Order: sequence, then structure tokens, then C-alpha cells
Amino acid sequence: MTREEYIENNRDKFLEELFDLLRIPSISADSAYAKDVLRCADYTAMKLQEAGADNVRLEQTAGNPIVYGEKIIDPNKPTILVYGHYDVQPSVPNDLWHTPPFEPTLKEGNIYARGACDDKGQFYMHLKAFETMMQTNTLHCNVKFMIEGEEEIGSSNLGIYVKENSEKLAADVVLISDTGMIANDIPSIDTGLRGLSYVEVEVTGPKIDLHSGTFGGAVANPINVLCDMISSLHDENRHITIPGFYDQVDTVSEADREAMDKTPFDLEAFKKELDVNDVMGESGYSTIERTGIRPTLDVNGIWGGYIGEGAKTVLPSKAYAKISMRLVPSQTSAEITQLFQDHFKKIAPESVKVKVTPHHGGEAAVTPTDSPAYRAASRAMEKTFGKTPIPTRGGGSIPIVALFEEVLGLKTVLFGFGLDSDAIHSPNEKYGLFNFYKGIETIPYFYEYFAEEN
Ligand code: BES
Ligand code: MN
Ligand code: MN
Repeated sequence: MTREEYIENNRDKFLEELFDLLRIPSISADSAYAKDVLRCADYTAMKLQEAGADNVRLEQTAGNPIVYGEKIIDPNKPTILVYGHYDVQPSVPNDLWHTPPFEPTLKEGNIYARGACDDKGQFYMHLKAFETMMQTNTLHCNVKFMIEGEEEIGSSNLGIYVKENSEKLAADVVLISDTGMIANDIPSIDTGLRGLSYVEVEVTGPKIDLHSGTFGGAVANPINVLCDMISSLHDENRHITIPGFYDQVDTVSEADREAMDKTPFDLEAFKKELDVNDVMGESGYSTIERTGIRPTLDVNGIWGGYIGEGAKTVLPSKAYAKISMRLVPSQTSAEITQLFQDHFKKIAPESVKVKVTPHHGGEAAVTPTDSPAYRAASRAMEKTFGKTPIPTRGGGSIPIVALFEEVLGLKTVLFGFGLDSDAIHSPNEKYGLFNFYKGIETIPYFYEYFAEEN
């Protein structure tokens, strides 16, 4: 049987299994789901074993277990380390979902569920591609699978695991499907990820909530002050004003910027899709550059004071915000977090107290386009899409990728099949059936060509 035949014969089975995976609410950020996270690790391990992997086990960490399994066919053949994550983002706000987030639903060729694209639908393609290669005797490389349960909360325990198990994880390349491509008829391969620095800030005014008539206008309102402070973090050109913020930013050559701006991108369609009248960002850079090669600062949440029904005239004691900064090579998240902390405290007026709490971070990564692994990925997509994929720079972060390079000395191929319209982290996340099956079909060609290119 050919691989294409095997995939065709098992289309429904593959999808049913993915649906079972999607039914498990493996939300790593919320401890109320701790049991589901473990159940999801068990299910993933069981499926990896069924697909034909050896030495499948749950590697315990201080947090959620890592699912490990391998198939070593010949020590002389190259080894691929497949990474993915079985944890998902919280599904809230649930009332904005058209179908329940953990009841996967098929609609117009798309699978709707939390994790459908990020990353269950994508890592599951690798298990099914592997099964297909096993069942058709076409596995051309050794493979090690490492599917973790803490990517959405920063992968810090995986970082420890990788450092402690560098020999066991020895490989020739890391293969990850946890990013996107331009469109189903415009295949592309991400060649970069941004780093991340994430902080929470707390601004305290008076020690208790006060009557806003008796005290308002005379005492600092921490929400007013926090808004002023946040506004001052960008200037009129949308440059970030934190001193030293851009000092380590690698400049991208004019030639590379020109190449980037040749990648297909329809600004009008982009605005229409998001229902915005205009875009906004750092002046002097295109939209693709703003998300690909430039660092950014965004408030992810802001709260404080009275938010219940009706009006309550109160001058609140506290205001809070969560702020993320996306970083580019060679900024480091520790340094940027420190710069933010120092600056934010410095700009606070005497009338308030400020606390800054750092959360997880991660470093940016760039992946080469002149490597055997990239060539294998490019040829694989060309084979199944009929078009050479375009190298692009992604705006998101996968913190462990920089560590794979630092600790294991391995470059990564970001073999993503998602779309920007898949609404990852948002209500009504989806993944196309086209993308799911196309991934399963394409991944084995990567193995085949990677064995040839090595
Ligand atoms: N799969 C995403 C990262 C991603 C998405 C990369 C789209 C490129 C394109 C990953 O699961 C993710 O969401 N990462 C987080 C970082 C993490 C530390 C919470 C992110 O980018 O916000
Ligand atoms: Mn992901
Ligand atoms: Mn994610």
C-alpha cells in the first residue's frame, strides 16, 4: 500500500482520534484542569505507542509530564526530534464560542475546538504521519518524539528536562508544526520566532478604596496613573520609550527587508479580515516587518476599580496590568525585563507605589534557509502543494526553540500548517481538514528528503 492509500483509507479514524484528543480540556494555565492535563498526557502516550513508537513514557517534571517516545531504525540514519505541545490556552470567554470549545465540531471543512490548530491538530499530524510511514514500510529516519504540556505557560520545566537529557535527545534536527503558513495555496515556512518578556504591574494609590467625591482630584487615582504610565511607553512614532530597549536589536539588511516586503501580503484583505479601518504600528516599517523583525510592547489585560453593574463612585486603591514585549534577535528577555522594571518604577509619580512582577520569558530564534533540513522541508511542501514555499518571519514565540539550539546544538524547522485566520488563543479556534491531511501527507516527504540531503 502507498502512503497516500493508507492516509485515504484512514481519514475517518485519524479524525476521530484527533476529536478524542480535543475533547480533553488540557488547559495548563488553570490548576482546576490539572487532572485533564494528565489525562491528555496519557492519551497522547497511548496514541504514540499505538502508532508504533518504542520506549514510550511519561517523563515526570516539577510540572506537567512530557510524553516521550522514539523509533530508532538505524543508527547511521539521521534522527529527527519532533516537538509539540498537548496543553492549550484557556477557552474563556466561553460565551463567544459558537460551539463548545471542548466539543470538537466539523463545519464547512474546519474543525472547531480549543487546540484544534494550537497545537493538538498540528502535533497529531506527526503521530499519524509516523503511523503511516510505519504501516507502509517507508520510515527513512530515526525519530524521537517529545510532546510537552507546558508550552502555553513558558516551558520552564521542559527547559530543565532538555538540559538534563541532552544525550538522550541527540538528533540532527528539530521538527515542529506549531506555526502557520500564508494561505492554503501559498505555502510558506517560518524562519524566525520572536522572544517574549512578560510582566505584571500593580499600582497602588491610597491604602483603601475611597469616595471619589470626597477624595477625587486630590489623591492619585492608580487607574488614571497607570494609564498615563502605559501611554508614555510609546512615543508619537510608536517607538518604545524604555531607555536601551532597542540597543541589542539586530538590524536586518536592506536586501532582507526588500525580500520580506515581496512576500505576498494584502493589506486591504488584512484590515477587512480584522474589521479595522486602519493598521497601527511603528513608523518606518511595513506590517510584515512590524510583526516579523521588530520588537513590540502590548498590554494584554488591565483591571481595577469597580466593574460591576451600574455605577459606583469610587477612587480605587489599586490598578493592575499585564504587559508583554515581543523580542527579536539579539535582545534577551532577562535584560528587557530588567529595563522595563527600572523604567516603570522611575516614571511612577511620588503619589503611587509600583510593583512589577516578571512572568515567563523566552528568547527569539531564527532558523537557516540554507540547511539540508530547510531544503528537505521546502522540497516536501513543493511536492504536495505544487509550489515552492516562501520563507517568512513569524511573530509568535516558542520559547524552547532557542534552548534546542543553545543546549542541543540543533536547528529547528518550523513546519507549520496553520493559518492566521485559525483564531488560535481566541474563541472559535479552528483547523482546516485540508491542513490536517495535507500535513500528514507532507511530513513523510520531509523524512524521505532529509535522509537524502544528509
Ligand atoms: N504556537 C504558538 C506560537 C506561534 C503562533 C508561533 C503562531 C508562530 C505563529 C505557541 O503555542 C504560543 O502561543 N506561544 C506563546 C508563548 C508562550 C510563552 C505563552 C505566544 O507566542 O504567545
Ligand atoms: Mn503552540
Ligand atoms: Mn499557543
